[in-house]
Amino acid sequence: MSLMQRVQRRARREILNRTAGVRGVAKAAIIGCGQISPGHLSGFNESGVATVVAVSDVRAGAMASLVRHYPTIRAFRDYRTLINEMHPDVVSICTWPQHHLEIVRVAAQLGVKGILCEKPMALEMREVEEMIDVCRSAGVKLAIGHQYRFHPYFLHAASLVARGGLGKIIEVRGNIKDSVANNGPHLLDTIRFVLGDRPVRRVAANFERTGDKMNRGWPVEDAARGEITFEDGVVAKVSLGDFSPTFFDIEVVGDKAKPWICWPGDTSEWSEPTHMNFK
Ligand SMILES: NC(=O)c1ccc[n+]([C@@H]2O[C@H](COP(=O)([O-])OP(=O)(O)OC[C@H]3O[C@@H](n4cnc5c(N)ncnc54)[C@H](O)[C@@H]3O)[C@@H](O)[C@H]2O)c1
Repeated sequence: MSLMQRVQRRARREILNRTAGVRGVAKAAIIGCGQISPGHLSGFNESGVATVVAVSDVRAGAMASLVRHYPTIRAFRDYRTLINEMHPDVVSICTWPQHHLEIVRVAAQLGVKGILCEKPMALEMREVEEMIDVCRSAGVKLAIGHQYRFHPYFLHAASLVARGGLGKIIEVRGNIKDSVANNGPHLLDTIRFVLGDRPVRRVAANFERTGDKMNRGWPVEDAARGEITFEDGVVAKVSLGDFSPTFFDIEVVGDKAKPWICWPGDTSEWSEPTHMNFK
């Protein structure tokens, strides 16, 4: 981002911040103030429709830099106290997935109206199902941090698929150099999004774990491969971890065109996809 863009962004943030009270925007709170939380904070504050009023972390030190940058934000060690005292309309859950179900349950019980929970949604299907049930019965909107649904390249690919611009979809190929339960959701969710969230009929996968790799406290495989068969017979072939030949890429193979969206070849860092090629 250029200096000019940074200055404009800062000015916009400042204006939105100062006018939030007058505009009556939604009150947001962030639970878990680690690596990903600043993105949620700026996302809310720059959206023009929400402003962050409070953050929570079991570690006071984790909240320090957020509060230093935004002195009006209140900090709470206990997220229950935050919700009870601040009554946020929406909360972002930015903790590890082992805590997602419990926090969703409490937030829904305490009257929060919307929850943006980071990926992976949970580590077990029974937790995923309970999160959905709890939110459905409390009338709470639940969204998961699958941000590539908003990326212009994937929006473009999804729109081409929806309009039949690729012809008949033959298959989808996708790769990501990470585990299924860590960044795997980005790959799998983005494929589903590009294909218009069509229903899935069957999933087959194999995992290889030869070492003792862990991610945020849970064991992960070294490599995985799988096939997702959608109701209409389209198959997505995915490779993850050591089986993945690239950092992250998705190719949608249609009989008229094959958009291929990829990250820079030598990247090992999270960034934006930089190429959308048509074969
Ligand atoms: N969407 C993305 O691209 C993306 C990128 C990075 C991380 N993530 C996801 O975000 C989540 C957090 O990852 P991270 O890298 O920020 O982790 P992190 O370890 O940096 O931060 C997690 C924070 O949660 C706090 N915490 C733990 N229990 C808590 C509780 N009960 N109440 C309040 N705070 C609590 C921890 O003290 C820690 O500060 C993970 O699920 C991860 O997969 C998503």
